[in-house]
Amino acid sequence: MSHARVRWISGPVLRAAAQGPFSLREAVHVGPQALLGEVVRLAGDEITVQVYEDTTGLGPGTEVRGTGQPLAIRLGPGLLGNIFDGLLRPLTASGSVYVQPGARTAARTEYGFTPLVVLGQTLEPGTVFGEATTDSGRKLRCLLPPDADGEVIRISAPGRYADDAPVLELRLPVGEPRPIAMSHVWPVRVPRPVRRRLAATRPLVTGQRILDSLFPLAQGGKAAIPGGFGTGKTVLLETLAKGCDADVIVYLGCGERGNEMAGVLDEFPRLTDPRSARPLMERTVVIANTSNMPVAAREASIYSAITVAEYFRDQGLHVALMADSTSRWAEALREVSGRFGELPGEGGYPAYLSSRLAEFYERAAVVETLGGETGSVTVMGAISPPSGDFSEPVTSHTKRYVRAFWALDVKRAQARFYPAIHPLQSYAEDAGALAAWWRQQGNSRWPELRRQFLTLLDDQARLERMARIIGKDALPVRQQLTLFCAELVNEAFLRQSALSTIDHRAGPERQAAMMRTVGRFIELAEQAVAAGTHPERMSELPCLRAVQRMGEDIDEENLPRFAELSARMEHEFGQLSSQLSDPPSSQPDADPGGQAGAAPTHPTETPHAPPTAG
Ligand SMILES: Nc1ncnc2c1ncn2[C@@H]1O[C@H](COP(=O)(O)OP(=O)(O)OP(=O)(O)O)[C@@H](O)[C@H]1O
Ligand SMILES: [Mg+2]
Repeated sequence: MSHARVRWISGPVLRAAAQGPFSLREAVHVGPQALLGEVVRLAGDEITVQVYEDTTGLGPGTEVRGTGQPLAIRLGPGLLGNIFDGLLRPLTASGSVYVQPGARTAARTEYGFTPLVVLGQTLEPGTVFGEATTDSGRKLRCLLPPDADGEVIRISAPGRYADDAPVLELRLPVGEPRPIAMSHVWPVRVPRPVRRRLAATRPLVTGQRILDSLFPLAQGGKAAIPGGFGTGKTVLLETLAKGCDADVIVYLGCGERGNEMAGVLDEFPRLTDPRSARPLMERTVVIANTSNMPVAAREASIYSAITVAEYFRDQGLHVALMADSTSRWAEALREVSGRFGELPGEGGYPAYLSSRLAEFYERAAVVETLGGETGSVTVMGAISPPSGDFSEPVTSHTKRYVRAFWALDVKRAQARFYPAIHPLQSYAEDAGALAAWWRQQGNSRWPELRRQFLTLLDDQARLERMARIIGKDALPVRQQLTLFCAELVNEAFLRQSALSTIDHRAGPERQAAMMRTVGRFIELAEQAVAAGTHPERMSELPCLRAVQRMGEDIDEENLPRFAELSARMEHEFGQLSSQLSDPPSSQPDADPGGQAGAAPTHPTETPHAPPTAG
């Protein structure tokens, strides 16, 4: 292998005089502790190396040894349920959150192995050749690496083997037979190959109403969660990790403070997966590169995380990757780039910030795997824009690559309205493609109600501005109704506490029932107003409180109670209209400007609220 001698070193970056050939992106070992690094530039006899570990104490003259391999990680049955650093070295094995300098990928662990192929069989890349059983009893497929194929000339009997011990040997067209273990090594910067990408047709159900119902993300899609300091990015990502319907969660804590990760590290091992009733950790891989860990490893951590996600995708699983936060990753990129002496671009970030973000997000997809199955990686990345300014480079570049934008709002967060997603600054480009799925779930009115809710929220912003100038009572009655209905959408539907025992997650059926209930209330309210009731009278209806609290009151097991609630609404509105014979407190005006906001119902449609003269 090639050698080099350090000439110059500054933090995580060094330049060294090479003796022998090095290749770009080759992994290297630096100094007596064999710290892990990567060649990032070649110029004449000089290599520039990014070191992923603390370089304190190293100086000119230190030896750098080439490995002949790109920076790679070991993928296998040992991933689920464990916590790793940015280079996928286990953080729990040593009993501390610090990895020994120079430590390698993973400790040797034994797993149960069951062969699924026989001697003489010819295998293609990505074939499932066996089954590994983890200590928790979970069965995982052993995949032939994407770059391996050939005839089986040895296969181990069922038993327990180290994850890196050869359990299979393949005859290759030329050369030595190739040994294959339950786990294999894959370079982090190279996307794992697939047969083809598929169109996104179903959502990743997150259990958060504002996301699933207003700003849905397709399975295999990509979403950004930008938000100022303390607006709830971490809580939202954790809630999604707990509640979304993915088979495997890869949770990346990237450059956040150690205590930000505490929620995941403390809480997850104690939680159960709502779908399988097994510990949540069993479907989770945590990668932690907190702010006190070496900065260059942070840059590598998002590639490690997405490679792990692709590995599970290749098993025909649906994977959700949460990255908190991509801004800290971009800052690492900026810091290392500065040490290289590269010319800073916008915001001090290197000019390749945008292409790196694209490379990361483009690895999210629904695919047909090499083994012929369907798997997906869905990516959700938090962004922490300095002073909450969404025009800064990381947010604006990320916007170009994501399909859903879930913008967290400081004002909503200050008002403790959670999740603090701003309905007017957020968007979801996949919503149209997902309507069919909601229809199959029995929510045929999803597109219509979604549009109605969004229009109401849009009108609300405009009318509130006006109300601040002229006073709310001076608004025409139809506009007061719009404000009333928008508030109902916010309070009864969008507000959802991550801390609530019942409401932290809402399944698709419960969401649909709540959506219909709010939709029906709005219909009844419109009819009542058209028949002469003032919106203020509706605030006094006892059922209004019940609708506002339904998320907390009606759990997944009691969905028929939504129908009871609707019946109660019909009844109370019926009574309201029969009271119309009493002189109303104020006359509804005609609103000739027609600025009725989202009210799609025509005043003539009043089947339930005939103004009966007593
Ligand atoms: N969905 C939610 N439900 C209930 N409370 C929430 C929710 N989201 C945020 N909070 C509250 O807001 C606080 C701050 O949230 P969080 O730590 O997620 O913010 P952040 O955006 O990650 O902050 P930072 O910028 O420091 O990373 C939480 O401790 C919690 O009290
Ligand atoms: Mg946070």
